[in-house]
Amino acid sequence: MSQEISKREQFSGKLGIIAAAAGSAIGLGNIWRFPYMAGKNGGAAFIILYILCIALIGLPVMLSEFVIGRRAKKNAIASFRRLAPGKPWFIVGWMGIAAAFMILSFYGVVAGWTLEYIFKSLTGSFAGMDPAAIGKEFGDFIGSPVRPVFWQVVFMVLTGGIVYAGIKDGIEKYSKILMPLLLVILVVLDVRAITLAGAGDGLAFLFKPDFSSITAEGFLAALGHAFFSLSLGIGTMITYSSYFDKKQDLATTAVQVTVADTLIALMAGIAIFPAVFAFNIEPSAGPGLVFVTLPNVFLQMPGGWIFSVLFFVLLAVAALTSSISMLEVMVAYFAEDLNISRKKATIASTVVATLVGVPCSLSNGVMADVKIFGKNFFDLLDFTSSSVLMPIGGLMIVLFVCWVLKEDAAKDELSNGGALKVKFFPWFMFAARFIAPVAIALVFLNGLGLLKF
Ligand code: PHE
Repeated sequence: MSQEISKREQFSGKLGIIAAAAGSAIGLGNIWRFPYMAGKNGGAAFIILYILCIALIGLPVMLSEFVIGRRAKKNAIASFRRLAPGKPWFIVGWMGIAAAFMILSFYGVVAGWTLEYIFKSLTGSFAGMDPAAIGKEFGDFIGSPVRPVFWQVVFMVLTGGIVYAGIKDGIEKYSKILMPLLLVILVVLDVRAITLAGAGDGLAFLFKPDFSSITAEGFLAALGHAFFSLSLGIGTMITYSSYFDKKQDLATTAVQVTVADTLIALMAGIAIFPAVFAFNIEPSAGPGLVFVTLPNVFLQMPGGWIFSVLFFVLLAVAALTSSISMLEVMVAYFAEDLNISRKKATIASTVVATLVGVPCSLSNGVMADVKIFGKNFFDLLDFTSSSVLMPIGGLMIVLFVCWVLKEDAAKDELSNGGALKVKFFPWFMFAARFIAPVAIALVFLNGLGLLKF
């Protein structure tokens, strides 16, 4: 037993916990994925659905993951085994590992794009280009067979390297400095974007809802994105909270992480959409939106290339603090339960996720025509993980806390054994017992077309 305890690392304290959990949540999801999802699904209407999903579903699921992880002090699979011995709940942990794996594969590809854009900004390659040329440059780059794969491999090596070295002294330390810096850059970008000629249309797109643009798929996309952005449903927060100390206030942590994550996403939207309209870019342009829009904004700023370098560096760092949390889900399991050394587990998981990432990257070019269920490889992994596995995982997790772990245990964990007041507790139980499961089930079945309203 004592050996088991001494083997487990913990985050060093409150700030480290917030930095790590917010570091996992804040990433490409906020700055790359959120704007193009909003752009594809009608702007403001999508944002309202998204915020509803965050508050009514995301928050209770995050709290539930914290309860499970800190109570069990184990990886995502073993946590279920410890809290429900002999029952099949550990399968939820397995699904999580599979999803973490899929996400990490395509995440590494997009994070690789940010590295290319650091390089492009440093060498001033956008100077003198018009919006159409910047768009073409992006398309040519992601469609080429070698360069994106090269950067993807670089990014995956960085991810593996940090997890290999342990978390506390690496990522925890840097997240505390770099996350606030990202916020500062976003503020500067927001100011520049809002003052562009024609910014009003972009802001209207973001904040004036057109409810007729809400569709069942849009709702499912908002739900899936809420899970994606808060790193939920796949055991990431279970794994991370297993490293929390027993004094950490779980509810405050969950609220802080959720609010920070949502704010960063909205700020990214404010930086991007005024420019989308000012430069006549299609709001529904898809995954290229940030990479096509922001270089135009940087060109309109004195010393823009410096901001551009800084922005893409910080985006890469934000991606890194997320990708390590996905890798950690797998490594914690392999190292703890399969008795493989942490280092070997890290190398093996990194190599496999990188290999699966290669066809994702190629699906933007030479493999574009290879379709499975009508989707290319990249979209297939994205859809299966965020729109299917994450919501199902989230559903199972809240059900587990309410019906298996039971009220007393949940209350004990949330109140740190009675030390904290938990006035919100009945609300949490109500949301976790009824609102979240029913909402997830309805949105899910409706979005997949299995049930029509
Ligand atoms: N939340 C991360 C982001 O927004 C992505 C992520 C998903 C991280 C799942 C961990 C687990 O970029």
